[in-house]
Amino acid sequence: MRCLISAGPTREWIDPVRFISNPSSGKMGYALAKAAKDLKMEVSLISGPVNLPNPQGIHLVRIETALEMQEAMESHFEENDLIIMCAAVCDHRPSVRYEMKLRKDEFPDRIIFKRNPDILKILGSKKKKNQVLVGFAAETADILNSAQNKLKAKNLDWIVANDVSKNDIGFSSDINEVTLISADGLQKQIPSNKKAKIAKEILDSIYPTCLEKVH
Ligand code: PMT
Repeated sequence: MRCLISAGPTREWIDPVRFISNPSSGKMGYALAKAAKDLKMEVSLISGPVNLPNPQGIHLVRIETALEMQEAMESHFEENDLIIMCAAVCDHRPSVRYEMKLRKDEFPDRIIFKRNPDILKILGSKKKKNQVLVGFAAETADILNSAQNKLKAKNLDWIVANDVSKNDIGFSSDINEVTLISADGLQKQIPSNKKAKIAKEILDSIYPTCLEKVH
């Protein structure tokens, strides 16, 4: 079975020395990649800029921007059976990317943003019957409802609802706590634990769907 996973943040550049981004460390996505490899899957990992060692035995592709993430995910999508989008993709990018460093007094008071493509939604629209597509939902309010809405809107098989309003779980932490929701209406709470354990639980839970759909 072939598995494609995205991890980490994207960077959206203003000029060569400034960008907007988010606090994703890549830990959750890298843990998922290892858990998939432990299930004997052939794993490709599309990673934003993170401070983690290259994982052993995994095909690693490094990207920076949401547009680069889109290109990498789309070009690997067809050949993979299980696709998990864990990356924290910036929804917006500055409409202008200056080629030269802006001096302090040249820096604009206002920056205009453009919407980035919703990569997961694009993948959902291309999904074949024998592919399993999993998304994450990073939420701070009305967590389960918002996650369920994303599951439907993006044509997913599973979504992992992640409460990112707390400091001790979610972004950057070694610990996480999530609720896994399936398109069939199953809900499974995975209590607070190291991201390696959470990743194993997620993979173990979705593996039967993969076996059913892929073979
Ligand atoms: O990296 P860590 O520090 O370990 O933190 C892990 C995490 C908090 C980043 C991770 O668990 C998580 O919640 N990832 C999803 C972050 C996110 O962007 O959530 P969202 O609700 O904004 O997006 C919903 C889904 O659409 C996600 O699967 C996201 O990858 C995808 N998306 C979002 C925007 C976009 N332009 N394209 C996308 O594909």
